Amino acid sequence: MNALDVVIVGGGMITYDLLLPSVYHLQRTGYVAGIKVCALDTIPLKALKSSVEMSEAFPGQDFEAFPPVSEPEGNKYPELYKEVIANMKPRQMVVVAMPDQFHYTVVMEALKNDQHVLCVKPLVLKYEQTLEIEKIAFEKGLFVGVEYHKRFDRRSLIAKRSFELKQFGDFVMGEAKLIEPYFYRSSNFQNWFTCDKTDPFVYIGCHYVDLVYFITGLKPVEVSVSGIKGKFPNGNEGYMWANGRIRFENNALLSVIDGLGYPDEAAGSNDQSLQMFFEGDHKTGMIKHDDQFRGIEHSYLNGIGCAGSHFNYVSPDFYKLVPWEGQGYKPVGYGFDSVSASITMACMIENEVQGMSETDSLVKRQEMILEVDKKGIIATPANSYINELVVEAARVSILNDGEIVTIEYGNDPRVILRSKK
Ligand SMILES: NC(=O)c1ccc[n+]([C@@H]2O[C@H](COP(=O)([O-])OP(=O)(O)OC[C@H]3O[C@@H](n4cnc5c(N)ncnc54)[C@H](O)[C@@H]3O)[C@@H](O)[C@H]2O)c1
Repeated sequence: MNALDVVIVGGGMITYDLLLPSVYHLQRTGYVAGIKVCALDTIPLKALKSSVEMSEAFPGQDFEAFPPVSEPEGNKYPELYKEVIANMKPRQMVVVAMPDQFHYTVVMEALKNDQHVLCVKPLVLKYEQTLEIEKIAFEKGLFVGVEYHKRFDRRSLIAKRSFELKQFGDFVMGEAKLIEPYFYRSSNFQNWFTCDKTDPFVYIGCHYVDLVYFITGLKPVEVSVSGIKGKFPNGNEGYMWANGRIRFENNALLSVIDGLGYPDEAAGSNDQSLQMFFEGDHKTGMIKHDDQFRGIEHSYLNGIGCAGSHFNYVSPDFYKLVPWEGQGYKPVGYGFDSVSASITMACMIENEVQGMSETDSLVKRQEMILEVDKKGIIATPANSYINELVVEAARVSILNDGEIVTIEYGNDPRVILRSKK
């Protein structure tokens, strides 16, 4: 097996909580070779390097920091990622973990430099950009995975199969919720999570819209999102809460509430769920997922987390570090499974084409990419583009006080304010 070099661009919360530990584990299981992490400044890189949790879990493993951690904390390097990517061998992997509004530029930079890509969700904020990414990636035979990790939650996969087996009926009405902790307001979010850039629906609501599409295959056709604004500690104004309503092509409705406001002291550590109702022949079907309380309660002698809460719901399903037969601890959960699926897929593609001529290699890579698109488990630009349309529609709606935005499909999909039609 030929392992891939991985460059992670962005060293913030998602890199700390999921991406770097997953990549470290894939390094010791043979899929990843060298690891570089590039951030805007040294502050997050120092936090990653000095993490006790990380060094206990992955003893002896390390990454190369860009900028080097010896640089002064105040210095900013907004363009350094370009240099780091340009110095990679061709057809390795770039993991994009920057604020939403930079995904497009970094993904394009990676593709320009012949790199496979894994991007955190949402891939981009405009549908046209997804198309561009899909096209250039396919032409070059480069794999692009989007990190919609809820697709890898076993309960989602079970629901998808049951739906396909027609065990529920026709989706008609649903409700989803994802409320992240209040302490997020004090994080680096305050620098980029501003009203003009993003909102809680785009940030996390999109997971559940993607999930309903993943389970049912139904396309969203109307989006309305209203927001509640608030101030971050640094004075920036952002939407702290959002309430969205999605109509699907069969007329079914999904409402989604999101926010940065789950109490830090509460047992969560967030609140999330999905309930869907279905119409059958003279009866109804239902899916009900409580996605944060998975039936495990711990009460610790000393409080954990930001607010030091003692009593906690523990989810073994998203991401946890657990003992294993090897050294340290290993990451388990659908978060890891999702990261692993994209990185191992890129690795498999590259191993499959080892020794082939450039022409045969391109044809084979394109074939494998089309198979992943068709399978629809790993989110790719081709099989998750509805999310970009929803995100684009949501941004228009929330900035127009919740007006309904229509998504038109056909040859030239686009979003349009219903009042302007
Ligand atoms: N549930 C999920 O799927 C999930 C969860 C969290 C975050 N995310 C996504 O991950 C992305 C990052 O979120 P986060 O929570 O890690 O944010 P964050 O604010 O904690 O981190 C952002 C990082 O980007 C880096 N950065 C900014 N500009 C840069 C530049 N020019 N060059 C290099 N690095 C730069 C910063 O240094 C920082 O390390 C967002 O798109 C977010 O939506 C997804």
